[in-house]
Amino acid sequence: MADPVSAPLVTKPLGLWESYRAARRNLLEIIPLAALHQPFVSGQNGPQRWHMVMSPKAIRRVLRDAVDDYPKSEATKSILRPAIGESLFVAEGAEWRWQRRAAAPVFTARNVTALTPVMTRAAEAACARIAADANPGRAVNVVDQMVAATFDVIATVTFGEDEAVDRAGASEALESYIEKAARVSLLDLIGVPDWVPRPNRIGAASMLTKMHADADLAIETRRKTGPGAAPDLLDMLMDAEDPESGRAMRTEELRENLLTFIVAGHETTALTLSWALYLCAFDETVQAKARAEACAVLDGRAATADDVVSLPYIRQIVEETLRLYPPGGFLSRTARAADELDGAEVKSGDTVIVPVYALHRHRKLWDDPDAFRPERFDGSGEIDRYQFLPFSDGPRICIGASFAMQEAIIILASLLSRFRFTRVPGRDPKPVMILTLRPEGGVWLEVAPL
Ligand code: HEM
Repeated sequence: MADPVSAPLVTKPLGLWESYRAARRNLLEIIPLAALHQPFVSGQNGPQRWHMVMSPKAIRRVLRDAVDDYPKSEATKSILRPAIGESLFVAEGAEWRWQRRAAAPVFTARNVTALTPVMTRAAEAACARIAADANPGRAVNVVDQMVAATFDVIATVTFGEDEAVDRAGASEALESYIEKAARVSLLDLIGVPDWVPRPNRIGAASMLTKMHADADLAIETRRKTGPGAAPDLLDMLMDAEDPESGRAMRTEELRENLLTFIVAGHETTALTLSWALYLCAFDETVQAKARAEACAVLDGRAATADDVVSLPYIRQIVEETLRLYPPGGFLSRTARAADELDGAEVKSGDTVIVPVYALHRHRKLWDDPDAFRPERFDGSGEIDRYQFLPFSDGPRICIGASFAMQEAIIILASLLSRFRFTRVPGRDPKPVMILTLRPEGGVWLEVAPL
């Protein structure tokens, strides 16, 4: 069987202008082919030295053992800062620590389980929408459906059931901001400091105004009404106190964190689900095996948290999807000190990139790396902690990882137990990475109710 779609990597060194053009089109197109074979690839764009690191041992040092020397890169921060300020995703040091501590209770295993009824409801609603759309011979873009489902989940977890909030408005504004602003500019590539304005980001500024106003309204309304019966993320963030100053989060900090959760929490999961459906349509044998598992467990209803342990094959499909199309395809850091990474010399100020996309397809780490084989995650083989990093690792590991896994399993199992998904010839998606790894053109599939 052929392999599912992949991105063409670079076979010869790119000049500055070529790198710039490729990075704006698709960040995956700046990854050298050598990144699939070697533990390191280093280079220089103008004055900026960079290293791509694919050695699990070196990655462990960057993300865990020497994490304080590898803060998130200025390029990432300057894209995100106008939208989400100095929130959890972007902050460093003590500022980061107390925000992480404030948000952590929401993501404990107990709380994630308590949040899963929202996921089951979203799965049910997605099935109803898809059933209404499914006509023989007519393709459906499942990305739109999955974004709607995961947005419902994150908006309820973040704002509770508050009807006053224009949830859809905030999501649209955020998405158009990212679409416009996240394209890497030439100035980022050559390491020009953040305060030099980027033309593409100036154009996106008006979208931010609406988004900020929506979040502020949610906070103001909550201050008046007080917490609801089941505390949501906004209640917990409002309750948290900085252990050093004893102060609570200011409106601006609350706003930035709410938007962070919306950005980080729904598109990533929607992309995972969309790619998983593409892969199930690509390999009908896998789809049939997954459906048999889902139907036996669910017997016609949508999946719940209690079902997740009984859906091991669906979990393996989600993991294999995250390997082939990791939504966070690039982790980018700036070295704060000189270092040696498993033999490679790093200078202070160098950009250190973990190209997760290439790591997950590395020829020396994976058997038949471009093939779709969910069974590699059945627990029988050995997978190094630092060769599979869809959620990163170390202290900055994705706070929503188990939340996202539960959500993806619940929604995917529910969909596969009710519909058959078939590829549309000539309409395969193209993996393109802007800020996240997306299927360009959407994932168009024929959907037939069972
Ligand atoms: C399949 C879905 C998801 C994927 C693949 C994913 C991936 C990641 C990755 C790779 C990072 C680290 C980024 C870096 O270090 O540069 C991260 C961080 C983060 N993620 Fe996720 N994520 C997902 C879902 C979620 C969800 C559901 C939430 C919240 C509800 C969330 C919230 C966050 C936050 C707040 C951070 C920053 C954590 C910190 O710096 O302390 N993510 N995510």
